[in-house]
Amino acid sequence: MPVERFSADHPLWDSYLTHLDRVDMARWVVDMDGCAKPDIICLGAIVEDSVAGHITLRVQDMRVPVPGRDDAQTTIPGADGLPLRETFINTFAVDVEYRRQGHGRALQTAAIALTKALGCYQIRSWTPFETPVNYATMIALGYAVHPALTTTEHGRTLGGVYFIQTV
Ligand SMILES: CC(C)(COP(=O)(O)OP(=O)(O)OC[C@H]1O[C@@H](n2cnc3c(N)ncnc32)[C@H](O)[C@@H]1OP(=O)(O)O)[C@@H](O)C(=O)NCCC(=O)NCCS
Repeated sequence: MPVERFSADHPLWDSYLTHLDRVDMARWVVDMDGCAKPDIICLGAIVEDSVAGHITLRVQDMRVPVPGRDDAQTTIPGADGLPLRETFINTFAVDVEYRRQGHGRALQTAAIALTKALGCYQIRSWTPFETPVNYATMIALGYAVHPALTTTEHGRTLGGVYFIQTV
């Protein structure tokens, strides 16, 4: 089940963009020029020379929020004293007709391997409560489940779950 890293110079990049449009997630991944947004890592699942699924991630320092100061967060030192880093899942989807064929699992497995290769401590995502299939997938993959509230960029507070796996 081939999963490859994608960027604008990949021969199937147009197919990647078309898939992102089909699953309505392009706005989270690409800029106006059709290139991946800065710091977004793109992986894609290929079926018969076209893209049938994707996961995108970014690498970030793990930070502890400081109450009342949104802009001031402290990093968490790892065992070597350097700030702990993680990958955070930005988007994840498989085209409807290719679901339940193992592509989601293959994408997650590749993302976990990449997280480890990048020297990160963990992989994490946040998902709203209204996506039970994603919950089933993440739990099947062994992720820990941390129920939590989050505030969207528009100031709405939503209930959902952080899925976390140390690598
Ligand atoms: C979540 C999603 C990416 C899973 O992709 P997928 O290719 O169907 O997943 P897989 O076939 O690899 O399934 C892996 C495991 O997850 C679980 N799972 C997946 N879909 C499931 C479903 N509909 N019901 C129950 N369990 C399910 C199963 O345990 C499955 O293993 P199995 O098939 O051996 O039983 C896909 O359903 C999807 O695109 N959903 C809509 C977008 C979305 O919710 N994205 C995440 C939030 S942004």
